[in-house]
Amino acid sequence: MRRLGYRAVDIIVDHFAHLSTKRVGSLKARQEMEAIFREVIPKEGMDPGELLDFVEKEVVPNLTHLDHPRFFAFVPGPNNYMSVLAEFLAVGLNIFSGDWLGAPAAAQIELVVIKWLTDLFQLPESAGGLFVSGGSMANLMALVLAVHHKKQPEKVGVAYCSDQTHSCIERAIRILGKERMELRTIDTDERFRMKGEQLSRAIQEDKGKGKQPVAVIANAGTTNTGSVDDLKRIAEICEAENLWWHIDGAYGGVGILDERQQELYVGIEQADSIAIDPHKWWFQPHETACLLVRDQSQLSDVFYMMPEYLKDVDLSEEEINYSNYGIQLTRSFRAFKLWMSLKTFGLNNFALAVKRGIGLAELAEQEIRKYAGWVVVSPASLGIVTFQFHQPGWSKEKINQLNQAIMDEMLKSGFAMLSSTALHGRRVIRLCAINPRTTEEDIEQTIYQLDSIAKKRALFATAD
Ligand SMILES: Cc1ncc(COP(=O)(O)O)c(C=O)c1O
Repeated sequence: MRRLGYRAVDIIVDHFAHLSTKRVGSLKARQEMEAIFREVIPKEGMDPGELLDFVEKEVVPNLTHLDHPRFFAFVPGPNNYMSVLAEFLAVGLNIFSGDWLGAPAAAQIELVVIKWLTDLFQLPESAGGLFVSGGSMANLMALVLAVHHKKQPEKVGVAYCSDQTHSCIERAIRILGKERMELRTIDTDERFRMKGEQLSRAIQEDKGKGKQPVAVIANAGTTNTGSVDDLKRIAEICEAENLWWHIDGAYGGVGILDERQQELYVGIEQADSIAIDPHKWWFQPHETACLLVRDQSQLSDVFYMMPEYLKDVDLSEEEINYSNYGIQLTRSFRAFKLWMSLKTFGLNNFALAVKRGIGLAELAEQEIRKYAGWVVVSPASLGIVTFQFHQPGWSKEKINQLNQAIMDEMLKSGFAMLSSTALHGRRVIRLCAINPRTTEEDIEQTIYQLDSIAKKRALFATAD
């Protein structure tokens, strides 16, 4: 066991040590993966050392590295080694985080970390929350709370969000049942923030139609552009209309650690619930997210269950059973990861790492502006910048195709990976720079290479 374990550690540490010299990823076809991995269920086992050889040879090289310093696509996943160790220990000791009896230390650590987080967002003493698998789950649970605490059973409820809101909100509404809760999308302004006037109007219109406005989902850092809605304004509207106010801070909630950004977060302390995703910009391995709520009892009001076969774990209110505050009974010890890394590095180093990401996106914006033909579509905001390469006289479609081709070529090169999105009808290239291990040179080289690809392609392209 030790020998195998040391080998696994070597694989991980080699990965951390040599990542920047590797390709960001190599997109392989299904057929290629079938050829390597397809087999019938093995009836006899194999030597675990040989299995690790196979893993090193066939699994490790066929991954896209979300933690690579030049992975700028979607949302990078620059995790840290202390959290890897926490995950390893949690799994190795098979810690059960469903109830106090299963692991008093785990429950207490989760209580402590949740309190650190609710204090950070200045939620009241009554506040609480729990660790969940991801932002999608946290947002779904928030909407379940909204329905339970605000919706009148006989009315069709309406939730409001902006056109920049993550698609998991629409999925959550689908799960809740569109006949019970509708989702109404509000336009965004030129900075991709929800239009407050339009929100107020929509609420009045829906009331006029006999529907019941139930919840508003605001963004603290949109996936597309890192924009933060006007939280103060939305807080006022929610308070006046008695709506559940949820903030999706899955991507950008952590930006509150940068004092230069704090103005953006004024009002967040009035939220009924906040989703954050430590597996994004809090440098945690995947499946580390949290739902924070204004009042911990709002969770147990909805999720508390005590069947006969669990009576032995029903100790007292003090000895918390986290399974009564969420969907999962059997839960892994997710809080351990954030606890171990916050204790190791301290909040100040987390803040420095977050500021670095914000600064790197600002550098990327400066670099883009140096090259002819490039247009910044959304300036750097919370680590994200979007841009487009233009050619005079080209149609919108042709420009969109060109930008897609530039990204595809960059991905093929293995040097860096970016992704695309659509903003108010334009297809743009999007760069998300939240990995603190990214260097200034990584950014400069990536923009330089994008420009070289763009100019070469534009030169050889035929006119419309
Ligand atoms: C703003 C926002 N909300 C929600 C999600 C969904 O989170 P998860 O992928 O952890 O389910 C994302 C993911 O990118 C996001 O950026």
